[in-house]
Amino acid sequence: MNKLIVLCFSIIFTFSYSVTAGENLKPHSGSEFSLTAKCPPSFELIENGTCKLRNMYQFYNSVQGRGLGGTQTSLPKHRDGFTPAQIDLGRYLFFDPALSKDNSISCASCHQPEKGFSDDLDRSIGITGEKVGRSAPTLWNVAFLDKFFWDGRADTLEEQAVGPLFDSKEMGNTPENLLNTLNAIPTYIEMFKVAYPQNGIITVANISESLAAFQSSLISLNSRYDQYAHGYHEALNKNEIKGLNIFRSFVARCAECHQPPLFTNNQIAVIGTPDPIGMPFDIGAEKTFNNKKNRGGFKVPTLRNIAKTAPYMHSGGLKDLREATEFYNKGRGHAVPEDEDLLIHWHIWEPELQDEEIDLIVEFLQTLTDESLTPQLPNSLPSGLPVIDAAYAKNQIQKQQKQQQNINTESGDEDE
Ligand code: HEC
Ligand code: HEC
Repeated sequence: MNKLIVLCFSIIFTFSYSVTAGENLKPHSGSEFSLTAKCPPSFELIENGTCKLRNMYQFYNSVQGRGLGGTQTSLPKHRDGFTPAQIDLGRYLFFDPALSKDNSISCASCHQPEKGFSDDLDRSIGITGEKVGRSAPTLWNVAFLDKFFWDGRADTLEEQAVGPLFDSKEMGNTPENLLNTLNAIPTYIEMFKVAYPQNGIITVANISESLAAFQSSLISLNSRYDQYAHGYHEALNKNEIKGLNIFRSFVARCAECHQPPLFTNNQIAVIGTPDPIGMPFDIGAEKTFNNKKNRGGFKVPTLRNIAKTAPYMHSGGLKDLREATEFYNKGRGHAVPEDEDLLIHWHIWEPELQDEEIDLIVEFLQTLTDESLTPQLPNSLPSGLPVIDAAYAKNQIQKQQKQQQNINTESGDEDE
């Protein structure tokens, strides 16, 4: 008798779930979705059923004692050890607008694979249609980071993910509504059972962990620069090698902060970039660490796939790679508001680079592009919502065809 009541209750309950939370959703169901049992390329499935990153850089000694800007340095610690199912579930979640309050935007709306997992805006636009405070960073190689957001305010990818999900200007959701929505989609219920056999349920922790699993698979370490670093000298042309050498010279000092192989040293630095006109001064990491020393300080961003993620800096204020490089040549503190007294990093000075040297650095930065491990876009989503927008998938296919043609003709020209 009791059981029957519970059953009836749960039927009514489930039914009301699907009419309220999933109101405008027409979830897909059935067998068209199954989570993969394979690790992404570059990862090896090990005995305990998880994926382990394999990479040439793992053969090199530690960063210590190699001198700054050395090309054959090892990578810092990274996140891996997720199961194929967790990574694949994360991929569906990442592209699914069902994660936002009104089913309008997904993580991928601001972190678009073909735009270097960024967007081409100075500052991203969230659910309200307004610009958010900062520019969307790339997600390539986030597996190697130990602080997240421009001001380093999150320590893990899991902690980071709840930021956009529940920020009123970004995806605007609440934990209750998010769980209700996903629980109204039968395919997700099944997928979480496969990815999380221990508890088998949809929780915010499982959602953010699988998003972390997916993002940790975005590895970009096979650019022409990397081939050069591993000893294939012809991978870069003369100008690009000159550019690399200026980049790591003691005059330009770029590699002091943008340290190979990740082209970041994972530190916060105050360099005094401009804020948009009319916007209040962004105090950056001062807030995170509650320390004046960090006023106007931001995380040193990776320069991997940098040619794909214009405009640049936390405010998106510098429009292309030339402007971003010229910034360093315009003199220490030149863009700092008069009433601010910042502790600008000592590697920021006046290198007096010639025009031609700036061009060479820019040429070199283009060699850091490697999108060979771009994950496959889901064909459709468990929620039945469109994967970003229709034009997007088409774009992606055209781009891949073009890349294939380029490889076939072996033209040395970088397509930008
Ligand atoms: C409205 C656009 C928008 C959406 C939607 C969005 N992001 Fe972001 N993302 C940003 C912006 C802007 C930042 C930088 C914010 C800051 O530093 O204060 C950021 C930062 C990040 C970072 C930190 C990267 C780094 O190098 O520090 C990660 C990781 C990330 N987002 C992942 C996600 C995931 C996962 C989702 C979906 C749950 C998501 N984002 C949804 C715009 C967005
Ligand atoms: C003292 C450390 C430091 C040095 C030296 C340095 N950078 Fe940076 N770089 C940063 C920081 C911090 C940011 C982010 C600043 C911000 O957003 O306000 C940045 C941002 C950038 C960006 C934009 C990245 C993005 O995703 O928007 C580029 C490009 C860049 N630097 C290139 C260079 C070049 C080229 C040099 C040498 C001429 C150089 N950097 C020297 C710390 C440094």
